[in-house]
Amino acid sequence: MAEKIQIFDTTLRDGEQSPGVALTANDKIEIAKQLERLGVDIIEAGFPLTSPGDLEAVAAVAANVRGPVIAALAHAHPEAVDAARDALKDAARSRIHVFLSTSDIHLMHQLRKNKEDVLEMAVANVARAKSYCEDVEFSPMDATRSDREYVYTMIKECIAAGATTVNIPDTVGYTVPEEFGAFIRAIFENVSNIHKAVVSVHCHNDLGMAVANSLAAIQAGARTIEVCVNGIGERAGNASLEEVAMAIRTRSDFFKFETNIVPSEIYRTSRLVANLTGMSVQQNKAIVGGNAFRHQSGIHQDGILKMRETYEIMDAHDIGWPTGGAEIVLGKTSGRHGFKARLEALGYDLSDEELSRAFLAFKELADKKQVVDDRDLEALVADKMRTTEEVYHLESVQVTCGDRSSPTATVRLVAPDGSVQADAALGTGPVDAIYKAINRIVQVPNSLTEFSVNSVTEGIDAQGEVTIRIEREGRSYVGRGADTDIIVASAKAYMNALNRLLSVQRRADSEVRTSP
Ligand code: KIV
Ligand code: ZN
Repeated sequence: MAEKIQIFDTTLRDGEQSPGVALTANDKIEIAKQLERLGVDIIEAGFPLTSPGDLEAVAAVAANVRGPVIAALAHAHPEAVDAARDALKDAARSRIHVFLSTSDIHLMHQLRKNKEDVLEMAVANVARAKSYCEDVEFSPMDATRSDREYVYTMIKECIAAGATTVNIPDTVGYTVPEEFGAFIRAIFENVSNIHKAVVSVHCHNDLGMAVANSLAAIQAGARTIEVCVNGIGERAGNASLEEVAMAIRTRSDFFKFETNIVPSEIYRTSRLVANLTGMSVQQNKAIVGGNAFRHQSGIHQDGILKMRETYEIMDAHDIGWPTGGAEIVLGKTSGRHGFKARLEALGYDLSDEELSRAFLAFKELADKKQVVDDRDLEALVADKMRTTEEVYHLESVQVTCGDRSSPTATVRLVAPDGSVQADAALGTGPVDAIYKAINRIVQVPNSLTEFSVNSVTEGIDAQGEVTIRIEREGRSYVGRGADTDIIVASAKAYMNALNRLLSVQRRADSEVRTSP
């Protein structure tokens, strides 16, 4: 049997460091549950010291997701290690991940400390983490730009202090596959107690080599790869989970390894992460991009029709891609049973109540759209099952606009006390008018920083999926909405973003009230 490579997913921590991404505790739980279905071995849920909200979110993931190991990040400082311990107290299996820089440039210009003091800090905090938790990871940050001998010493001392995993980060995406592979090999040759720890790697994508570097590292002895779904993460992102997993699987003849990743869950995980982070997947992205299994050239299409393998090295269905509508479609005459069966085939396991809600929405959609395919169902389920707490509910929206009149919107919202509140506003366009009318009721100033519309399927009756981002007090909130009417989708997206903002604000208010 092929040897296992462990997949350590850091979408909820490094992925959340992607500019503009802010996940709520509910978002993190939803993504973590999907990562569990996907089969990841370790989930890094956050960096608890950074905010009480993140500590709470890591604690919520630890309490709700029992399969994978739940890791919390801490820099080498007692307060950070203690926050990680607190956040993980309800985890079934926990890991504290301690990091500290080792490169001269970081020591000199950021930490402003000498090598001896930094070594002491790392060892002391790994030992502290070990006193709380058996499973401790240590990362010498910026390892690939560090003095090799210093990295060896640091790793050796941290293993002696209790680290069970040593992770070698290419923090700034500087290394190249051959060099990185040689570095990992050298670690095995120069660190006498390395056999007491698992070697992990964490590669950034600044030069577009994060996946290639990670794969070179497993050839050299690393046995864990740190990744993010859709390759999101700080700056140009981290190694992409789906690319790493599918490379190991598709080229098992070459790599001779396997992972616990369930390929059929990949597509859905990608969509969920794109939805909740607001980071759309580029069309030509490997494995999960819109064009990944599309064939344009006549010669390619001819080959595919004769035998799929002529131009495809993977089967889209294995990765969980919806059928694209060609094979199975639903319509207004479809019943609840067929609807449920199709959702189950797509991997959705809804409760009776969720199914009833989704079925009503499906019937409304089927009235407007002749053919409802898998992509429509996916957008519909995402729209109806959003887990954001609804502080305000959009009851209705009406707009008049055209080239002879000022765009005017009337909206009705159900307020937290159950009352229905209505208001109207003029705007420069219909969406502006809606957002102004909503603002008159909700009264939470914010600025709209992104607005995009995508068509879920082809055709004039396609559903539009609107993604927006709003900002308030330096924090950004993503909202999504889908509807056959893009004006209604825009209103839904705005309500979704506002509800996120309001629930984060409510939580912050209750933290202030309950703190000593
Ligand atoms: O990129 C990096 O070095 C990190 C560490 C915290 C592992 O994210
Ligand atoms: Zn990183």
